Amino acid sequence: TAVNDGPLKGRHILVTSGPTHEPIDPVRYIANRSSGAQGTSIARALLSLGAQVTFVTGPADKAAPMGVDLVEVQTADQMLEAVNSALPADAAIFAAAVADWRVANAADQKIKKDGNGLPVLEFAENPDILASVCAGKQKPKLVVGFAAETQNVIENATAKRKRKGCDWIVANDVSPSTGIMGGSENDVTLISEDGAENWPRMGKDQVAQRLAEKIAEALG
Ligand code: C5P
Repeated sequence: TAVNDGPLKGRHILVTSGPTHEPIDPVRYIANRSSGAQGTSIARALLSLGAQVTFVTGPADKAAPMGVDLVEVQTADQMLEAVNSALPADAAIFAAAVADWRVANAADQKIKKDGNGLPVLEFAENPDILASVCAGKQKPKLVVGFAAETQNVIENATAKRKRKGCDWIVANDVSPSTGIMGGSENDVTLISEDGAENWPRMGKDQVAQRLAEKIAEALG
């Protein structure tokens, strides 16, 4: 429950954050690189404007902010289920770095180095949580996705907005040279129906605050 008053008082907002872990066996997994920093900041900013926040997170480095309704998951399948259970919501922000694939032949027991050669992993495609919510009956009024790109950021993110069916895409360049991945700053472009709006480089907390204010404005 929201402790703060503010423009988002009475609004329920869903935030996904962190990576997902897709098991190979009970002790190993594949994952995307994600600290959960941007998602955590967004949840905190939404709380500060008075929203009730459901925070669905994979195993992240950053602790979840106090005051959210916390749902911890490991895999993309679990994240999809948690997201569907959290709906309806007035808005949803998909900041999680979901693994695109899971291991289809994950082992129930630890795979041993038994001299019989190397294990061969088979992959299956994970559900696209953002796209599935946008296509669903309970699509929130405002759905925001992220696009972490390493090249042609605006072009790729604009195409992604259409493909996923979301309202806004927060696009950023995560090339190693930018220091954004795992760092405290971000350089984003907000893609909407109206075009691309480049924001100056600023702290992830400030990006979150500005985004939360824009969300409050859009929800009216
Ligand atoms: O396709 P791509 O992974 O670049 O899309 C990024 C956006 O889609 C992010 O908002 C991410 O949280 C969301 N996403 C998702 N489920 C997936 C893959 C991405 O919700 N399986």
